[in-house]
Amino acid sequence: MGFINLALLLPILIIFTIFPKSTCSNSLWAEKFLNSAKRAEVVDWMVNIRRRIHENPEVGYQEFQTSKLIRSELDNLDIKYKYPIAQTGIVAFIGSGNQPFLALRADMDALNMEEGVEWEHKSKNPGKMHACGHDAHVAMLLGAARLLQESRLELQGTVILVFQPAEEGGGGAKQMLDGGILDNVGAIFGLHVSTDFPLGSVATRPGPVMAGSGFFEAVISGKGGHAAIPQHAIDPIVAASNVIVTLQQLVSREADPLDSKVVTVAKFQGDGAFNVIPDSVTIGGTFRSFSKEGLMQLRDRIQEVIIGQAAVQRCNASVQFNTDDRPFYPATVNNEDLHKHFLKVAEQMIGSENVMEMQPLMGAEDFSFFAEAIPGYFYFIGMVNETEGQLEPGHSPFFRVNEDVLPYGAALQASLAATYLLEYSPAPAIREDSLRDEL
Ligand SMILES: *[C@@H]1O[C@H](CO)[C@@H](O)[C@H](O)[C@H]1NC(C)=O
Ligand SMILES: *[C@@H]1O[C@H](CO)[C@@H](O)[C@H](O)[C@H]1NC(C)=O
Repeated sequence: MGFINLALLLPILIIFTIFPKSTCSNSLWAEKFLNSAKRAEVVDWMVNIRRRIHENPEVGYQEFQTSKLIRSELDNLDIKYKYPIAQTGIVAFIGSGNQPFLALRADMDALNMEEGVEWEHKSKNPGKMHACGHDAHVAMLLGAARLLQESRLELQGTVILVFQPAEEGGGGAKQMLDGGILDNVGAIFGLHVSTDFPLGSVATRPGPVMAGSGFFEAVISGKGGHAAIPQHAIDPIVAASNVIVTLQQLVSREADPLDSKVVTVAKFQGDGAFNVIPDSVTIGGTFRSFSKEGLMQLRDRIQEVIIGQAAVQRCNASVQFNTDDRPFYPATVNNEDLHKHFLKVAEQMIGSENVMEMQPLMGAEDFSFFAEAIPGYFYFIGMVNETEGQLEPGHSPFFRVNEDVLPYGAALQASLAATYLLEYSPAPAIREDSLRDEL
């Protein structure tokens, strides 16, 4: 290497040494991606994707058409992917193909419920609805994919796009994880649309952000009989009622008041006749905690209480946690370093006044499986435009997505990824000592 070349290189190397690499380009990515995402052609394209998915909602592990739609858009963008993982899941790759690897995740499944909103793109599948915004999550991740693919030559590593099935109780994230999709991946980001925060804002927190969850179902058996001759029956309705009242005391009397927990019985089924004591009653519900120990303690006590309290009224009980269909979800815990990274990128893009710290939620999210395996970060992105009125919360039949959120989600995810790669990319190939040798 000649002297002149070195003289040119030296100031550049000094800049690299003195200043962290990130300070020069952070704001550039955020600004560039938000402008790109707000282009009319990109917005229209995302809106169209979101509406096509909304019209054809598919529940956990049956997202076949949704998955096909995503793959055809990835093909159009010339993005390579692996499929199927966990039946309908897709993992796509953008960038150099080398380390570092950073993952972005979207969930694809809908809910078993009837849409109540009357509009042009209402669900065409009876009894199924995208009432949790996963249609928007997919559109935003494809939006991020498009932005990243347009800038692929500038990416200092590889972005992994994760489109997962069955977030709503089916633990699709766990199955994707078991498929090895995050091997060698440094970190993962996920988001959720929110009807609590204004459009153009985000809300999040470091540490635990959503609770861990489990589900239970119990059959309480007695002996059926005539409703007017109770002495010849063993009444499971009264036994189940006492069980439910006793379950209330697990949180109020056994849990630390400063350690949030929930036990809710949401299902109570007898035979439905007015004048017959049924043979058995089925109850079911869910429990929540921010720690694994807390969750396991609740599980053990729920089982003990149901069996013990049913026995007081001469009934037998069997308790099931159905973990094959509904695995326990760990709490979603946001990594502290990624929190700093998130604040930096989000504040650059939307201003610090629009980045809010929120209280943890007792709701659960299977993103937690990813965040348990590698550093993870989950945040909420606001959709509320007050001039357009109140939005119903997720899982309501009247839930609506404000599609103005799409460019924000796409640009944020893309910027979080590109900036991460920049910060965690390997040191420049030419090091100072090798240079000194040449001098
Ligand atoms: C409960 O189980 C015991 C043992 O299997 C059985 O003898 C009894 O009849 C059962 N009682 C009811 C109410 O089902
Ligand atoms: C909120 O909605 C109004 C009416 O549709 C619209 O004019 C305005 O631009 C929206 N605000 C934002 C921040 O998008």
